[in-house]
Amino acid sequence: MITKFNHVAIVVPNLEEAANKYKRVLGANVSKTSDYPEHGVSVVFVELENTKIELMFPYGENSPIKNFLDKNKNGSIHHICIEVENIDEACKKMEENGVRILGSNKPKKGAHDKPVIFLHPKDFYGTLIELEQA
Ligand code: CO
Repeated sequence: MITKFNHVAIVVPNLEEAANKYKRVLGANVSKTSDYPEHGVSVVFVELENTKIELMFPYGENSPIKNFLDKNKNGSIHHICIEVENIDEACKKMEENGVRILGSNKPKKGAHDKPVIFLHPKDFYGTLIELEQA
């Protein structure tokens, strides 16, 4: 069911500083900052040949990653994203196997405008997994 690795997302305490560090120290290609008010995040994309790293910072008061940053003040890996061919099939599979989906249990449009679901980290070895329909 899962196909390709899509991205790893890292919450950082300062987006501009982090983007500069990836650029300066690691020689990375980094994008401009994109704000996603509907998702409560600002993101810089670190483009790699085979995948990408998303540096994230809370956007607005009700950001879903605000608590995470409060608990991890120096930043930390937040989630990994893996592609699936069919998100509805993925939802069904989770239900059948007792894996909880965060939020409404239905796919939502993710930051790349594709349908995504997030799997409960307690049901997947302490890792928040985003499944994205490719
Ligand atoms: Co993501």
